[in-house]
Amino acid sequence: MNNEEMLTQLKERIKTDLTAAKEVADIEALRVSYLGKKGSITDLLKCLKDLSEDERKTFGQKVNKAKEEFTALIDDAKKKLIENEVKKELDSMPEFDMTMPPRIRRGSYHPITLVQRECEEIFRSMGFTVEDYSEIVSEYECFESLNIPKDHPARDMQDTYYLENGQLLKTQTSAAQNAIYRKYRDALINEGKPIKAIFPGRCFRNESTDACHENTFFQMEGVYVGKDINISNLIFFMKTMLSEVFKRDIKVRLRPGFFPFVEPGFELDINCLICGGVGCPSCKHSGWLELCPCGMIHPEVLKAGGIDPEEYTGFAFGRGLTRLAMMKYGIKDIRDLNSGNLKSMEQFQA
Ligand code: DAH
Repeated sequence: MNNEEMLTQLKERIKTDLTAAKEVADIEALRVSYLGKKGSITDLLKCLKDLSEDERKTFGQKVNKAKEEFTALIDDAKKKLIENEVKKELDSMPEFDMTMPPRIRRGSYHPITLVQRECEEIFRSMGFTVEDYSEIVSEYECFESLNIPKDHPARDMQDTYYLENGQLLKTQTSAAQNAIYRKYRDALINEGKPIKAIFPGRCFRNESTDACHENTFFQMEGVYVGKDINISNLIFFMKTMLSEVFKRDIKVRLRPGFFPFVEPGFELDINCLICGGVGCPSCKHSGWLELCPCGMIHPEVLKAGGIDPEEYTGFAFGRGLTRLAMMKYGIKDIRDLNSGNLKSMEQFQA
């Protein structure tokens, strides 16, 4: 077979080969086998050296033209194949139906948001204001104004994240107390309006995490300052408020507890909600659950807030909102709450 015949044959063969190709990869393989370094066209060009000068010129032009034709044929076949595949996929899709209900995934509230909102509502109904405050505070707000001086050992339990400007991420919602007293003291002194405020917020501690400890968690601080506020008011108030939160009659007991910003300070326990006080694994068989530290606001703390402790007294309490959410929804690992795992969080509905 002479060179001319071989070229004509190649032209016929490439068409058949391209029609038989089923996938883009098959077409690319053909491109290599016809046009590649060791491809059929390149082989033909190698024969040029055995031809006379005239023949070389005309045949060389023919082969180059064939090369262009082959490239166009291959590109065209590839384009058609891709278009066909897209069309097939589109055809297999269901038709757009305007009457179908939308398939939108509904969001849900985080369990901590749920308990926080519920508590806020209860406190509002009892005449409390809900305060908003920064997560970044000064050392003075977080510690000194709360009667925790620089060298006080109580600071060791509350190591946190310090910023370059000397401020820090607050370790406790008690850090807002000073600002709350300053905001409302004029109304207290001039109009005799007691200060009744709660402050829910995020707290941070430099903590090794496990099922019970997190570096980021939520608390809710509450303060009540006025004339002649005493421990009986504190106990009555806490009992009423907790019965509202848990929607049943709650028994409380106070144990002495130390917090530098209250004097006296207490750990408030409630009767175990699971066993009703008989004793079970949840309450470590004691019948009581530790829930809410509280106490009478220390005179130094009132003074720092510009309130005369000889004239006014008050109580403060701090509730772990994260802990409350865990108790309410039976969440066993605190880390689940910050995991961002929508599957586990979206089961909680308002
Ligand atoms: N701020 C304390 C803590 O994070 C909790 C606390 C204890 C708040 C006693 C109070 C209180 O208001 O009276 O550990």
